[in-house]
Amino acid sequence: MHNSNMDLTIDAMWLFLAIFLITAIIIKNANARVTSDPGCTRPPPPVVNIIALLKLLPTLCTKGPEVTMTYLYNTFGSVFTIRFLWKRISFLVGPEVSGLFFQGSESEVSQGNMNEFTVPMFGQENGYAVDYNTRSQEIRFFIDALKPSQLRSHVDPMLREVEDYFAKWGEEGVVDLKDELNQILMLIASRCLLGNEFRESLHGNEVREKPFGEIYTLFSGIEEGVNLVSFMLPYFPVPANHRRDKARIRLTEIVYDIMRSRKTCGRVEEDVLQKLMDSRYKDGRRTTEAAVAGMIIGLIFAGKHTSSNVSTWTGACLLTHTKFLDAVVEEQREIIRKYKDKIDYNVLSKMETLHSCIKEAGRMHPVTLGLIRQTEKNINVRTKEGTEYGIPKGDTLVNLVMLTSKLSHIYKDPEVYDPYRFHPGREEDKVGGKFSYAIFGGGIHVCPGEAYAFLQIKIIWSHLVRNFELKLTSPFPKTDWSKFVLEPKGKVLVNYKRRRLESN
Ligand code: HEM
Repeated sequence: MHNSNMDLTIDAMWLFLAIFLITAIIIKNANARVTSDPGCTRPPPPVVNIIALLKLLPTLCTKGPEVTMTYLYNTFGSVFTIRFLWKRISFLVGPEVSGLFFQGSESEVSQGNMNEFTVPMFGQENGYAVDYNTRSQEIRFFIDALKPSQLRSHVDPMLREVEDYFAKWGEEGVVDLKDELNQILMLIASRCLLGNEFRESLHGNEVREKPFGEIYTLFSGIEEGVNLVSFMLPYFPVPANHRRDKARIRLTEIVYDIMRSRKTCGRVEEDVLQKLMDSRYKDGRRTTEAAVAGMIIGLIFAGKHTSSNVSTWTGACLLTHTKFLDAVVEEQREIIRKYKDKIDYNVLSKMETLHSCIKEAGRMHPVTLGLIRQTEKNINVRTKEGTEYGIPKGDTLVNLVMLTSKLSHIYKDPEVYDPYRFHPGREEDKVGGKFSYAIFGGGIHVCPGEAYAFLQIKIIWSHLVRNFELKLTSPFPKTDWSKFVLEPKGKVLVNYKRRRLESN
C-alpha cells in the first residue's frame, strides 16, 4: 500500500514535470512563433499532435522519457516534430540526421536562449551574457587550457587528491559511492581548475590544507540556480535565486583574491585559472577578472556533476559485470608489472580496457536525454533511408543523443554492457559514422573537457581497483530523471575492503 502510494506520488510528479517542462520551453520561445514556412523546399517531418501526446502521458509517467521518446522514434522515424500550441520542437535521432545540428554555423543552428539561466550563475562578463563572437573565443580558451598537452601537468595534483581522499577510508566499510565520487571530483576541480590556493594556505613556512567545506557549500549554492523556476525566471526573487547570487558573489571574491595575489607576487601556476588569466581575445584584449571568475565557475559546473555521474555509473556497471571488472584488474596488474607504482600521463594512456569501460558506461547512461538548439533559418535533413525533410526557421531542435547511443544499426545488442565494442576490430562508434557517440556532444560545441574527464575518472578507478575490493550492495541504480544532469537515483552503496593489488 505504502509502495503504491509512493508510485502514485512519483507518477504525479512526472506528469507535473513533463507539463512544466513543455510549458517552460514554450514560454522561453514565445517570440519565435512559427506556424509554417513557405520557404521550406522539402516536406516537414511527421508531426506528433496533441492527442497522440496526451495518449503517451501514461507511458511517460510510468516508464519515463527514454521509453517514451523511443516509442516516438519507432513510430515516426529519426526526424519528427512535436507541435504544442504554436510552438514546434523537432527531434533528431542518429548520426545521419545530426550533421547540421552539430556543425551548422550560428546563422543556421544556434544555442538560442535556453542557457540564459546560467547568466546569474556565472556572471555578466562571460558565457551567455556576452555576444556569440566573444563566447566562441572563450570556448577556444577552454580548449587550449584543457588540451592533452596541457593535461600532463594535472596528473600529479589529481593523483595526490585521490590518494589523500581514499587514505581516509577505513580498513573496510560501506559508502555511498555517488556521494564519495562527487566529493573527490570537487576536490580535484578545486586543485586543477581553481588552483592550489583553494586547497592550501601558508601558515608560517608550513603549507596546510584548507577546510574544504566553504567551497563545496558555495558550489552547491550556485547549483541551486538549476531548477525550473530559475530556468524560466532567472531573476525572480525566490530563495534559490537569492542563495545562488550570494554564492556567486562570495566565490567570485575568492577567485579575485587569488588572481590579485598571483599578480602582486608575480606567481605563475600551472592550473586552468592561470591559463584563463593569461588568455587574450583576438583583438589583443586581456581577459577581465570578472570574465575569468565566471569562466572558471562555469567550467566546474560543466565538469563536476557530469564526471561524477559517469564515474558512478562506471562503478555500478563494473561491479555488476565481473568479466569486465576482472579485465580491468588484470590490466592494472599488467601495468604494475611494467611500470611499478608509477602513474603518469603515458601510463594512464595504456589503460585501454578501463577507458572503454568508462566510455561504455557513458554510452549506456548519458548525462542528458538530448541536446538543445534552435534553427535560425530553414534547414534540410536527410534520413538514412534517403528521405529529406525541411525544418523551418524558429523550431527548437532536440538531438536525442541518448537514443542515438542505443541504435541497433550502430551498436550490437545496445542494451548489453560491452566495453569491447570500442576495441580495434569492432570500433562500433567509428564504423557507425561521425556523431554515433555523442555523449560529449560533437562538432562546434563538442565538450572541451572530454580528455580531462577521462583522465580524472581513470585516476580514480585505477586507484580504487588497486587498493580495494568492492561490492555493490544496493540494487543497480535507475536514472534520476528529475535532475538537470542525469544521475544514478538514490544512494549507490558499495562495500569496500582494503587490498593491495600485486603484479602477480
Ligand atoms: C564525463 C564527463 C562529461 C560529459 C559527459 C560532458 C558532456 C558534455 C556535452 C554533451 C556537451 C555539449 C553540450 C551541447 O552541445 O549543448 C558538453 C559541453 C561542455 N563541456 Fe562537458 N562533459 C563532461 C566533462 C566536462 C569537463 C570535465 C569539463 C571542464 C573541465 C567540461 C566542460 C564543458 C564545456 C565548457 C562545454 C561547453 C562547450 C560549448 O558550449 O562549446 N565538460 N559537455
